[in-house]
Amino acid sequence: MRKKIVAGNWKLNTTVPEGIELAKAVNELVAEQGAADVDVVLGTPFTHLTSVVDAVDTERIGVASQNCAAEAKGAFTGEVSVDMVKSTGAKYVILGHSERREYYGETSETLNKKLALALEAGLTPIYCCGEALDIREAGTQNGFVKQQFEETIFTLSAEDFSKIVIAYEPIWAIGTGVTASSGQAQEMHAFLRGAIAEKFGQEIADETSILYGGSCNAKNANELFANPDVDGGLIGGASLKAGDFIQIINAY
Ligand code: PGA
Repeated sequence: MRKKIVAGNWKLNTTVPEGIELAKAVNELVAEQGAADVDVVLGTPFTHLTSVVDAVDTERIGVASQNCAAEAKGAFTGEVSVDMVKSTGAKYVILGHSERREYYGETSETLNKKLALALEAGLTPIYCCGEALDIREAGTQNGFVKQQFEETIFTLSAEDFSKIVIAYEPIWAIGTGVTASSGQAQEMHAFLRGAIAEKFGQEIADETSILYGGSCNAKNANELFANPDVDGGLIGGASLKAGDFIQIINAY
């Protein structure tokens, strides 16, 4: 059975002490009341990784970086490599978030380098995809996201593909308070699972976790997660409050 995953994406928020406090609060709530069949992930800034790994029960909570360098090592000032991330005890890396594509010019080519390095290092990529509002309004979102797949994760071997987690995040829903409707999320997730089945076969498609992201919160998670093809969420704003985050973890 494919995994249910609720992953927090803290983005550019919290100092290290604040992050440790948040991680400890999430850790405590997950230990006390977290649904046992949901994998929990905390996506923190690079500076927080080691401390957050130390602050949580890593058997229960995985830690993720929000990016990694497209090079393995060398003269790339300011970059953080997959080996550096791995050495903190983090197990995941969020890749291809729309904010990185949009504000930092991340192309499919760069993304492919990062995916290859992450997989080689044994980190689990949480691969993000999703369309902007104009594409949704034109009704061409399915083809757009499939094209994102074709340029990136569909170039992987079936073995590597089966190691990744996908997060569908419509850009118009991220941080806007406008979430995709339950029907819109299910429709896209089912379409993507079908595209994966066509490419890699039904078995791999059935095992791939496809998370929804974009203004998912304690109030709407329940309805979104009730969909058969929605396997959890990538949560931005609502992951910064432990009380909200645990409600999302328990929203199944
Ligand atoms: P949001 O962000 O939940 O704040 O909309 C989701 C994300 O960008 O991962």
